[in-house]
Amino acid sequence: SQRTLVLLKPDAVRRGLTGEIISRIERKAGWTITALELRTLDQETLEQHYGEHKGKPFYEPLVDFMASGPVVALIVEGERVIEGVRALAGPTDPIAAAPGSIRGDYGVIVRENLIHASDSEESAEREVKIFFPGRA
Ligand code: GTP
Ligand code: MG
Repeated sequence: SQRTLVLLKPDAVRRGLTGEIISRIERKAGWTITALELRTLDQETLEQHYGEHKGKPFYEPLVDFMASGPVVALIVEGERVIEGVRALAGPTDPIAAAPGSIRGDYGVIVRENLIHASDSEESAEREVKIFFPGRA
């Protein structure tokens, strides 16, 4: 099976949606939350996490937003969980995301799209090391 790194972004925490989002993940048969922590991210952590986007026009506002309040970081393990949490989340732009997906149900703004989930096995291993170095 796989593991993935999930972040419930500051908008999800501020709006009181973390329980709702975690419930959707928990209800999937065979998936298990194996780490969970509320944490405010510093610039260094965000630079590591979103390094691939450095230099893009949305990078600075994205990092400022991600540091604007606490996030909930999770490791989720299970069958096809990398693709699966991305499917639960929906596309990056919440307006393009179907109702029934997390972003489709709760989001409007591209930057404030509630949830991050690793996009590949390589990203998942890299991101787990950033957020939960003890679990590497
Ligand atoms: P993450 O799971 O957060 O990595 O989202 P993603 O994989 O769906 O998108 P991507 O990695 O391409 O972009 C990272 C984050 O940057 C997105 O979740 C958005 O919050 C933000 N972002 C991406 N593209 C744009 C854009 O064109 N405009 C703005 N304002 N924000 C963007
Ligand atoms: Mg991404």
